[in-house]
Amino acid sequence: MGKLIGNKIKSAVFISGNGSNLNSIIKNSKKKNFPIKISLVISNKSSAKGIRYAKKNNIPYKIFNSLNMQEFERKALKELKIKKIKFICLAGFMKILSKKFIKKFNNKIVNMHPSLLPKYKGLNTHLKVIENKEKISGCTVHYVSSKLDSGKIILQKKIKVKKNDTMVSLKKRILKQEHLLYPKAIKNIFLN
Ligand code: GRF
Repeated sequence: MGKLIGNKIKSAVFISGNGSNLNSIIKNSKKKNFPIKISLVISNKSSAKGIRYAKKNNIPYKIFNSLNMQEFERKALKELKIKKIKFICLAGFMKILSKKFIKKFNNKIVNMHPSLLPKYKGLNTHLKVIENKEKISGCTVHYVSSKLDSGKIILQKKIKVKKNDTMVSLKKRILKQEHLLYPKAIKNIFLN
């Protein structure tokens, strides 16, 4: 994607829920050598708790609630254009973006997925990992392509699944790693 010269890349984060990854990205984006600046947060849910991180950090945010995807994308694209956004991080964004949208931001949209892709695409990853008695799980940052959770992998972090792990304990441990991996992957994209 080229070296970072001068200003940080204007970026947006899309969320639907708690926004703990958003919080981690915002924290890192304040560091001098971090390649991106979060200039916009978009949520497709007015109930998303993560919106509080945008408010707390005085980051402009938009909530496009209860819209069909076409309407959501139309409004989001308008806002992304106004804010001159060049890079998008999906962080717990629970909708599937259209091919058309992804094409407009070709190789400029990344996502965090809580499994070691290509294993366990889609929802309920931790439950499936536990049910299948996996010994290792983890998280993956990948480019977003038109196929769900299938774009090129940027970085992964493995963790051991403990014998007594529950969905909750595994999710908690992996989420901690997500908060470290997402900023690391963003750095890799722009600074390598
Ligand atoms: C994370 O587990 C992420 O991997 C998945 O959704 C969850 C979002 O958590 N895509 P948060 O909203 O960042 O706290």
